[in-house]
Amino acid sequence: MRSAIVLGGKTGLLGQALCAAMDRRGWTVHAPGREDLDLFDRPAIEEYLDRTKASVLFNTVAYTKVDQAEDEPAEASRLNRQLPLVLGKAVQGKDVALVHYSTDFVFNGRKTTPYTPEDQPDPRSVYGQTKLQGERELLALGLPSLLIIRTSWLFGPCKTNFVTRILELAATRPELSVVHDQIGSPSYTPDLAANSLALVEKGATGIFHLANAGQASWCELAAEAVRGADLPCRIKPIPSSEYPQKACRPAYSVLDLARFTAVTGIAPRPWVQALREFLFSREDCTS
Ligand SMILES: NC(=O)c1ccc[n+]([C@@H]2O[C@H](COP(=O)([O-])OP(=O)(O)OC[C@H]3O[C@@H](n4cnc5c(N)ncnc54)[C@H](OP(=O)(O)O)[C@@H]3O)[C@@H](O)[C@H]2O)c1
Repeated sequence: MRSAIVLGGKTGLLGQALCAAMDRRGWTVHAPGREDLDLFDRPAIEEYLDRTKASVLFNTVAYTKVDQAEDEPAEASRLNRQLPLVLGKAVQGKDVALVHYSTDFVFNGRKTTPYTPEDQPDPRSVYGQTKLQGERELLALGLPSLLIIRTSWLFGPCKTNFVTRILELAATRPELSVVHDQIGSPSYTPDLAANSLALVEKGATGIFHLANAGQASWCELAAEAVRGADLPCRIKPIPSSEYPQKACRPAYSVLDLARFTAVTGIAPRPWVQALREFLFSREDCTS
C-alpha cells in the first residue's frame, strides 16, 4: 500500500481533493498543517519523511493570490521558489518521489493553439515568474523522481474558487459582468487529483500539463455554471480592459494534455461534464 504526504492537504483547494482521491484508492495519507510541520525546516521535513515512510511527497502549497503577489514579491518567492527547493533537497538521496504543482501563468498567452510542456515559458506576473523559478530550482536538482504538473483554472469542493464565487453572486444579482477575452483550461480538482495519482502510478517524471478537456473564457465558465445551477442571472461578456486587475494574465493559456494521455492512456473528460458533476455534488466536501 502506498503512503503519501500532501502539503496543503488540510486546507488547500487541490490538496483536499488529493487527500480524498488517495483515501478512495486505499493510500495512506499524511496531511500536516502549518501547526504540525514548518515547511522551511529541512531537517524536520526529512524526519517527517522517515517517520511516515512516505514514498511520495505532494506539494500543493503555494502563494496563489495572483494580484497580491505583485505587492508581495518576496513572500511569493519564498513560497513559490524557495519552498520547492527546500522540499527538493529534503527528498534528495531518499526513495521518495516529489510531485510539485505549477501553473499556466508561466506562459505569456500569445499562442493561439494549446501550450505543450515544451513551449517556452515567459511569465508576465510575479506569481507566474515565481512559479517558474520554483520549477527551475527543482529541475536543476536533477532528482530521479520529480514530477511537475502544470494545471489551470481550478474549481471544486471544500474551498472558495471562481465557480463557487460566481454562484454566490449570481444567487443575489440579476446580472454579472465577466471577462470574455481570457481563454484557458478549467480543471475540476477531483479529476485533477485522480489523474495526478494515475501519473504517479505510472512512474511519470518531468513536466506534464493536466486539466479537463476543452477550453473556455471566464465568461463561458461562469455562464455554464449559472445555467447548470438554474439561477436567473444574466452573464454579460466584457473585455479585460473593463475589469482592470493588478497582475497581467495570459489572454490564452489552454493546456495541451497529449503527454498525459500518452503516458496514462487516460483522456480527461470535458470541463462541462465535470462542472455538471460538481454542481450536483457541491455540498459534499469529500467528492
Ligand atoms: N487555483 C488555481 O486556479 C490554480 C491554477 C493553476 C495552478 N495552481 C497551482 O496549483 C497548486 C494548488 O493550488 P490551490 O488553488 O489548491 O492552492 P490554495 O487553495 O491557495 O492552497 C494553498 C495551500 O498552501 C498553504 N499555505 C500557504 N501559505 C503557507 C505557508 N506559509 N505555510 C504553510 N502552508 C501554507 C495553505 O494553507 P492555509 O490554508 O493554512 O493558508 C493552503 O493549504 C499551487 O501550486 C498553485 O500554484 C492553482
